[in-house]
Amino acid sequence: MQTYHTIQGMRRELLLNRREGLKIGLVATMGNLHAGHIELINLAKQTNDIVVCSIFVNELQFGLNEDWDRYPRTFSADCEKLLASGCDYLFCPDDLEMYPNGLATQSKVICPVMTNTLCGASRPGHFEGVTTVVSKLFNIIQPDESVFGLKDYQQLAVIRRMVEDLCLPVKLIAAPIYREPDGLAMSSRNVFITEQERSKVTILKSCLDAIAAEILSGKTQYPKLEQEAIKKIETLGFRVDYIAICNSRSLEPAAEDDSELVVLGAIFTEAARIIDNVAIMREN
Ligand code: PAJ
Repeated sequence: MQTYHTIQGMRRELLLNRREGLKIGLVATMGNLHAGHIELINLAKQTNDIVVCSIFVNELQFGLNEDWDRYPRTFSADCEKLLASGCDYLFCPDDLEMYPNGLATQSKVICPVMTNTLCGASRPGHFEGVTTVVSKLFNIIQPDESVFGLKDYQQLAVIRRMVEDLCLPVKLIAAPIYREPDGLAMSSRNVFITEQERSKVTILKSCLDAIAAEILSGKTQYPKLEQEAIKKIETLGFRVDYIAICNSRSLEPAAEDDSELVVLGAIFTEAARIIDNVAIMREN
């Protein structure tokens, strides 16, 4: 695996691959790689000749009181995992390389829908940081395909909309959610879950599953189902950011006759914020 820290170096190298007609896949990450990230690399390898992984802890998508400075940075362990996965290139620019003019005056890519609800409501500006950095990465790497995880359901929906609106020539691939054996969705931030909290955080996934089961059995009182789940989670001592039953395309609150739904949730532990979702296909 070859590692590039500069845009120019990465571009030059990829140009050679592109001239040979090789198909390039990108997996964008913020590092502290876990088995879920590696599954994204494996997916990218299935349909591409060359796979690039990027690692960049993007300050632009973190709020002022968020964890940018304490986000786990585990570069050498990440390199070992990528090497073992058969990833071809690692692109890991520093802040100055990605934002040479500083963050305050950076031109931004803004998606006007789906960005102020759910995670966007408690993380103002988060999604414009994501769409800006992802469009920069697309311009730098110019991948044929890029794999994103369904774990960050809203992120993928927003990126999909950006790609459509701006006619970006990249095919998006959605990867399933990779979980720990007890159901907890893998996440770089799971290291912040304390030992006492660890056995209890699976309540999020079980509540989302329970809502999905209720909906599949014909229940349509969505606000009631959401409120019941919130109460259950709060009983275990976690603060709930949101539990929401949404239309899986628009991310608007689901209508009774919607057939494709997604139940999304975010909760706060002492030192982390955990998100998860469960998709539902219903025959009307
Ligand atoms: P990061 O949280 O590192 O995630 C990188 C990619 O891995 C995302 O597409 C995310 O959805 C996926 N992923 C993480 N955990 C997963 C899991 N348990 N199962 C499936 N996929 C999983 O998401 C970001 O970084 C950033 O916002 C980024 C897109 C890189 C832009 O900065």
